[in-house]
Amino acid sequence: MSTLAIEGMQWGDEGKGKLTDYFASRAEVVVRSQGGNNAGHSIVRDGKRYALRLLPSGIFNENVINVLADGMVINPMALIEEINGLKEQGVTKFNLLISNRASMLLPYHIAIDHAREKMLGNAKIGTTGRGIGPCYEDKAARLGLRMGDLLDLKQLDERLSSELAIKNAELKAYGAEPVSKEEIMKGLMEVRDYLVPHITDTSLFLQKCIKENKKVLFEGAQGAMLCLTHGTYPYVTSSSPLATAIPVNTGLPLTAVNAVLGVMKAYTTRVGEGPFPTELHDEIGDQIREKGHEYGTVTKRPRRVGWLDLAVLKYVKNISGITHVGLMLLDVLGGLDEIKVCTGYKINGETIDYMPCDVSTYTKVEPIYKTLPGWKEDISNILNYEDLPENAKNYVREIEKALEVNVSMVSVGPDHSQTIIREELFRD
Ligand code: IMP
Repeated sequence: MSTLAIEGMQWGDEGKGKLTDYFASRAEVVVRSQGGNNAGHSIVRDGKRYALRLLPSGIFNENVINVLADGMVINPMALIEEINGLKEQGVTKFNLLISNRASMLLPYHIAIDHAREKMLGNAKIGTTGRGIGPCYEDKAARLGLRMGDLLDLKQLDERLSSELAIKNAELKAYGAEPVSKEEIMKGLMEVRDYLVPHITDTSLFLQKCIKENKKVLFEGAQGAMLCLTHGTYPYVTSSSPLATAIPVNTGLPLTAVNAVLGVMKAYTTRVGEGPFPTELHDEIGDQIREKGHEYGTVTKRPRRVGWLDLAVLKYVKNISGITHVGLMLLDVLGGLDEIKVCTGYKINGETIDYMPCDVSTYTKVEPIYKTLPGWKEDISNILNYEDLPENAKNYVREIEKALEVNVSMVSVGPDHSQTIIREELFRD
């Protein structure tokens, strides 16, 4: 296979970063196709920790071309900040292409994100506060600016003027401060010279790569349950993290994605508001949070923690065509006497094994659990699948049986070396 997509199968933070780094080192091109700096993962290289928000994981490898594709929302100032941060840490060469079609996220999007969350009060989404939703709204409203507008100053000025007339009226309605066009233009002029040479038609570039059979990795951001259409609406992000959205977000045909690696944690977490049937509010939940370091990379918020939800995973597999699974953080469950997995839900006396579309129904479901025996051994140094304790293998089998997909990789610790590879994907 010459292309591979990585998709988070839960509510984000599944540990995609680690597997993305693994595959990025074998790729010729690494692509981010949706979302913006609401995403975040840290990479440890030669003992140094780097935080990536917008940049693809291939950025550390001079031979990899990194693409910020059409479906993204890009805050130019945040991108420069991220690049400068990496420069200070010694990264000197940025092999980066930025789509001229990608949406430009500007300070008023952030102001509206905050003002709206405040106005929603208890009904707030719990966003990352990075302006993601308001920027995608402007795209759908055909108002927003695109990265390509940085190439034409007259057009940039005109588009910003008509956009701001509306945005400042909106901010006023929220009782928030208006934003100044001069300030935004000043900010953009400071970053423009650096960004312009990187802005291009990335769709044409990627089409050529696919034609030439280049190894292209589509790295995922967020998780399937945060999909705007198929997730736990309205407690979702404003794009689709599904692999099936990659073609439209990159300007490629459906056939461009050869395989989809679904990445899941051995348990469930989510940040922000919204239903979470298997959430734990007890000591076991606290224990998993601490052992798994379950605190947000972008916002540092403690993540909500719960048992593995196979109903969610089955639903996600069916909507996104997952072909392989990467199971993360299996070591975190070690030491528990028993582990529960949710196999379906009870609602109004009925049993279902899928996610109901309506959040108010989903909030009322009662999870049906199967209890599995735990394992006491430390598995963090095991490299061969066969050497895992029988109960850990049993846990993996349970997932494979429910999803009807092979678990190709099992992560047993944060280090790259702590990965059990059962099936080589994306090989030369
Ligand atoms: P937004 O994307 O900032 O609008 O946030 C909408 C919802 O998606 C909130 O619940 C966020 O916590 C969640 N979210 C957005 N990006 C991520 C991510 O990268 N990991 C986990 N949750 C995320």
